[in-house]
Amino acid sequence: MPDMRVHEVAILGAGIGAKHMDGLLANRDRFHVATVCDLDAERAGELATRGENCAAVTDLDAVLADPALDLVAICLPPRLHTPIAIRALEAGKHVVCEKPFALSLRDADRMIAVANAAERTLTPVFQYRYGLGFRQLLHLINVGLAGDPLVATLETHWNRGEDYYAIPWRGTWAGEGGGCILTHAIHVHDMLTCAFGPIASVSADLATRVNPIEVDDCAALSLRHASGALATSSVTLGAAEETSRLKFCFANVTAESGLEVYHPAEAPWTFTARIPARQADIDAALAMVAPEKESFAGFYADLGREFAGEAARGVSTKDGRQSIELVTALYRAAKMAQSVAMPLDASADGYDGWAPED
Ligand SMILES: NC(=O)c1ccc[n+]([C@@H]2O[C@H](COP(=O)([O-])OP(=O)(O)OC[C@H]3O[C@@H](n4cnc5c(N)ncnc54)[C@H](O)[C@@H]3O)[C@@H](O)[C@H]2O)c1
Repeated sequence: MPDMRVHEVAILGAGIGAKHMDGLLANRDRFHVATVCDLDAERAGELATRGENCAAVTDLDAVLADPALDLVAICLPPRLHTPIAIRALEAGKHVVCEKPFALSLRDADRMIAVANAAERTLTPVFQYRYGLGFRQLLHLINVGLAGDPLVATLETHWNRGEDYYAIPWRGTWAGEGGGCILTHAIHVHDMLTCAFGPIASVSADLATRVNPIEVDDCAALSLRHASGALATSSVTLGAAEETSRLKFCFANVTAESGLEVYHPAEAPWTFTARIPARQADIDAALAMVAPEKESFAGFYADLGREFAGEAARGVSTKDGRQSIELVTALYRAAKMAQSVAMPLDASADGYDGWAPED
């Protein structure tokens, strides 16, 4: 049922919550940030001043009980995503949930069941999708110009040090729930499944080589898609120069992103026809894709369209579950030193989580 109201939003957590504020302010016709909630009153207050008629509060229970709020953006540490999402849905709120969507497939499935029963939307955050270059690639795929997917290479070469891990929940199984394949590469892996479709099997080597933390900070991953396409993903949190990069070889075109670390979907990408005579057709198709809002602004514009019943590309609970399914398979593959088949259902090893037992 289309809902044309301006949605009254609470941002829960004022760290990355600041980027949500940017995205929501860029879509004032659809959303109004009424509240910023953070245990740290000063942090909540600072972010709330960026809003319009926006309160700063520290009591999450009061936010969930406030009938005037109809959407909460969960920007809290990972361990809180599932319990707070479930409480918010049961309180009748729509929910936007930061990555990681959940810390096990069981939790992902519980959240989805509660959202369905409550008839509320539950939207995982995948803002990296929203950029012109990546939309151009999806357009070439959709109109049939790209051809069969062949191989992809992905790089998440970021840099994290002591200052990043000074926040106590980071770097731990109990707090962060996983390492670089859960927290950092999750974005390019989401983009990979958008472009190449479902993954059928994975192999993984993981290591902790950059920082003295519990969880992985380097990864070499190999993925086979249901289509037969192959992908490799290289991840480190110890790169001198921070870059993200995606390169997709299709039968008819090779597409390559720029190196922009947190916005790899954005232009300029290069699109090279395998048969040079077909480059003009590719270029003409690319020119059909108009610029739109990008990153968090694009994410919230899309959510606003979805609420209003307009055509939206929409990030769905299926995408959130799929991201956690991939992480589950990767940790299992690394632990067993063997390839793991997907999809994973409730009978799969690792359905309850991947953290080591002690
Ligand atoms: N989409 C992205 O690109 C992106 C980028 C960074 C972080 N994240 C995700 O966002 C989430 C938060 O990460 P962060 O870097 O902002 O962390 P952070 O620690 O900087 O911020 C989290 C905030 O939540 C507050 N908080 C914790 N418990 C609370 C409670 N019970 N009630 C109210 N406030 C509470 C903390 O005081 C803190 O200010 C994580 O899941 C992280 O993975 C996503």
